[in-house]
Amino acid sequence: MDESELTTGQCWRDVTDVLAAGIRRVLLYGPPGTGKTYAALKLGVTTGISERLVCTEDLTTGEITGTWMPTGAGKWEWREGPAIRAWTANSGRGGRLVVDEVDRASGDALSTLLAVTDSLDSARWRNPETGQWVRPGPDFSVVMTSNIDELEEIPAALRDRFPVAVRIDRPHPHAVASLSDDLRAPALNGSFGDAARRVSLRRFYAFDQLRGALGAERAARLLFDEASATAVLDALVIGSVE
Ligand SMILES: Nc1ncnc2c1ncn2[C@@H]1O[C@H](COP(=O)(O)OP(=O)(O)OP(=O)(O)O)[C@@H](O)[C@H]1O
Ligand SMILES: [Mg+2]
Repeated sequence: MDESELTTGQCWRDVTDVLAAGIRRVLLYGPPGTGKTYAALKLGVTTGISERLVCTEDLTTGEITGTWMPTGAGKWEWREGPAIRAWTANSGRGGRLVVDEVDRASGDALSTLLAVTDSLDSARWRNPETGQWVRPGPDFSVVMTSNIDELEEIPAALRDRFPVAVRIDRPHPHAVASLSDDLRAPALNGSFGDAARRVSLRRFYAFDQLRGALGAERAARLLFDEASATAVLDALVIGSVE
């Protein structure tokens, strides 16, 4: 596969350019298994490790900003949550916070997310242990990800904090580079042709690994429904002839 083929994908160019331009609130949404979370954790992160928060219906405020933990002998210790750690990472400059599956946040957790993703001037939080007010550092950035198809499914107040939303409709080029040659083009397209439904990156990885051990036919039957398995095998045969 040549370099131009590897670098295609307007959506990924958009994400890279937006982050490079200094935008620090970005929402990536679209079908599963395209590399949204991977990109959110890595793109534009030059120092430190990204903090990750996965939203569920049960997510609590404590899991975002921090919580008191028993340390034995009746003692309690304050454990900072990922949002505050990201605010203050890199000696107070701030780091990357990744908020995955953000459409699932609700109630108190959603209010807390609104607070910690607010603009740098407005956001502040009081550490219950020290009583000190904490603010996000100047380099603090948030990338949210979601599998939603329509932006309307994101609560309006949260959406407003993330003016740039990029619909990711294809896998990141680097993600397909580790696949066998014949799988890269189908993986970039997210399918084995018209007959097969959308196939996520994770399934391509599994297929590549399984067919090495069990053969293509069995791997396809294990990973896809009958119609799709046939389409996959046909597509690969046709591809190899071409
Ligand atoms: N740029 C990349 N380089 C190498 N591997 C990648 C890259 N992007 C994604 N991957 C791999 O592809 C798989 C799917 O990526 P990821 O979890 O980021 O997808 P996603 O879009 O967040 O999926 P979902 O919407 O289901 O959460 C993971 O195993 C990940 O490690
Ligand atoms: Mg993800």
